[in-house]
Amino acid sequence: MTAPASRYPTAYAAWRRDPPAWWADAAQGITWDRPWDRVFDPDAGPYGSWFPGARLNTCFNCLDRHVAAGRGAQPALVWDSAMEGRVETLTYATLLARVAKFAGALAALGVQVGDRVVIYMPMVPEAAIAMLACARLGAIHSVVFGGFAAAELAARIADARPKVIVSASCGLEPGRTVAYKPLLDTAIALSPHRPDACLILQRAALHAELTPGRDHDFRAAEAAAAPHPPVSVAATDPLYILYTSGTTGRPKGVVRDNGGHAVALWTSMAMIYGLDAGEMFWTASDVGWVVGHSYIVYAPLLRGCTSLMYEGKPVGTPDAGAFWRVIAQHKVKVLFTAPTALRAIKQRDPDGALLARHDLSSLQALYLAGERCDPPTALWAAGLLGRPVVDHWWQTETGWPITAGFRGYGLFPFKPGSGGRPCPGYDLHALDDAGTPVAAGVTGNLALRLPLPPGCAPTLWGDDPGYRRAYLADFPGYYRTGDAGSIDADGDVWVMGRTDDIINVAGHRLSTGAMEEVLAAHPDVAECAVVGAADPVKGQAPLGLVVLKAGVVRDEAVVAAELVALVRERIGPVAAFRDALVVQRLPKTRSGKILRATIRALADGQTPVVPATIEDPAAIDEIATVLARG
Ligand code: COA
Ligand code: AMP
Repeated sequence: MTAPASRYPTAYAAWRRDPPAWWADAAQGITWDRPWDRVFDPDAGPYGSWFPGARLNTCFNCLDRHVAAGRGAQPALVWDSAMEGRVETLTYATLLARVAKFAGALAALGVQVGDRVVIYMPMVPEAAIAMLACARLGAIHSVVFGGFAAAELAARIADARPKVIVSASCGLEPGRTVAYKPLLDTAIALSPHRPDACLILQRAALHAELTPGRDHDFRAAEAAAAPHPPVSVAATDPLYILYTSGTTGRPKGVVRDNGGHAVALWTSMAMIYGLDAGEMFWTASDVGWVVGHSYIVYAPLLRGCTSLMYEGKPVGTPDAGAFWRVIAQHKVKVLFTAPTALRAIKQRDPDGALLARHDLSSLQALYLAGERCDPPTALWAAGLLGRPVVDHWWQTETGWPITAGFRGYGLFPFKPGSGGRPCPGYDLHALDDAGTPVAAGVTGNLALRLPLPPGCAPTLWGDDPGYRRAYLADFPGYYRTGDAGSIDADGDVWVMGRTDDIINVAGHRLSTGAMEEVLAAHPDVAECAVVGAADPVKGQAPLGLVVLKAGVVRDEAVVAAELVALVRERIGPVAAFRDALVVQRLPKTRSGKILRATIRALADGQTPVVPATIEDPAAIDEIATVLARG
């Protein structure tokens, strides 16, 4: 499991010695239309920008150049749908032809450089085709995860103001068909901004009625279009906006640029995952998340790898052997997934009986992210697979890993529970609340010394001040990750959880603040608190405590069911909000601050540390009793 001599220390030291030179060297992997004036401009945007003056096209780098280099017949994207029970392989030549035509279809609807296109799609190749087509035109895509409700989609449409929306008739979840069109129509009706047109992919499982004058059939538009050439854009132009949970109900529009993104992702494929052109990489995530953007679509294609796109679940489609079947069938070399997927498999097949039915000889390593991988799960996977298991830590804002283990450099010793060491490009520190670095092994606020490396978000969409406030204000000279953790004497990083009200449910980033806003909107609710309680499979699960308004005499179970339905309706099924409990009062400090950490400890069955400033200690006993009742 342990490679004796990792080249990581030398590589990291080389970056540290001269970051611009290191990144200029890395940038040789990208085909530029025009070279940069300087590698980094510290005066642009909230903290600077990478490769100003350079021009390129990200789609050209993902597709055209590989076809020109003779890789046209190599599979670029292999779509395996456990939901439809079929596999579709798109070679680089086929994918290029389809993307060029779909770019033509978008252009025919008036989409140009800088226009936004919202993509609300299930896990089908057309989602990647739509993303790459936007990149080809220099348009800015904003993919919205299919598990969000209409109101969340509406908020993103309102902020991004897309010219066109690309969607599908339905998504397929185990046991149910998710009709996308009604959600899309509701979202457009809710949003103050209306797109000029929608392109709808009709799937066999459900036919959507198209709205005359606004909706067009995806396939017909693609077939009728003329292929569009790649449009050269500035390295600093946005490639996409990806909305992610912030600390309020309003999602943050994380912006990704073209040049730095291409350089960072191209570099990461070899450096972190140890993969090169022609090799099979499977990221079992969704294109609606950053992991899907970076490691289903852009990074593997930038490198000329084959990317596997999976529509299905780790369990139930049809069983807990689904991942092992996919690895064996497609000869996957490296798998990247979320720990929650492993826990779901472990729960159903703890001894790996289903795994034993498949030939996993192609698999060389398992990478995990999205949440911390708990040591028992990491050890279970390592024991079962007999392969390196690498936890690596990152976030939507960074776009690629902050810390990792490096197949490309030779892995260093496996420490279950650690997220590895900082990738070249990241100067990571653990700081106390005053911004002073803490000693090795001591938990602090994990923060990155500026500037952030290429590929990280340069700003929030239309909101430089919001970016400064959210990430740069607390610790001057640093980017605040929002995670707490420590760096041990070997340099290994231990990420222990968020310092804000973001929770991670089944590897999905959610805001408890957003859920509280929904609960507070219920006419019977006086006040509420939502915390992330420990969950054996999903890592965390939201738990809502509500105090009803004086005089409300209703069946508590009925109110709780209404609250669960309300969160599903306003935020979506992905919130997985299933538990609302009515209490007489919430534990608060005398200044009125709700003691969420205390509630969380109670929910996790721990004895909470009760602050001396608590207003009414009896609130603790009451919550403990209500929780014990369930
Ligand atoms: N479209 C519509 N609905 C979706 C959806 C999508 N794309 N994705 C999830 N949902 C729904 C689910 O069907 C479920 O609905 P239900 O309440 O009717 O059952 C709900 O959202 C909650 O989903 P989830 O929390 O994912 O629970 P689950 O029980 O369906 O599956 C796991 C549990 C662990 C198998 C699953 O969460 C998983 O595979 N997680 C991996 C996460 C991941 O890849 N994250 C990316 C970061 S790397
Ligand atoms: P997202 O932006 O959805 O990718 O979520 C990012 C957040 O998920 C991080 O800020 C962490 O809180 C958490 N996270 C992601 N990967 C890891 C990891 N490997 N270890 C610990 N936490 C992680």
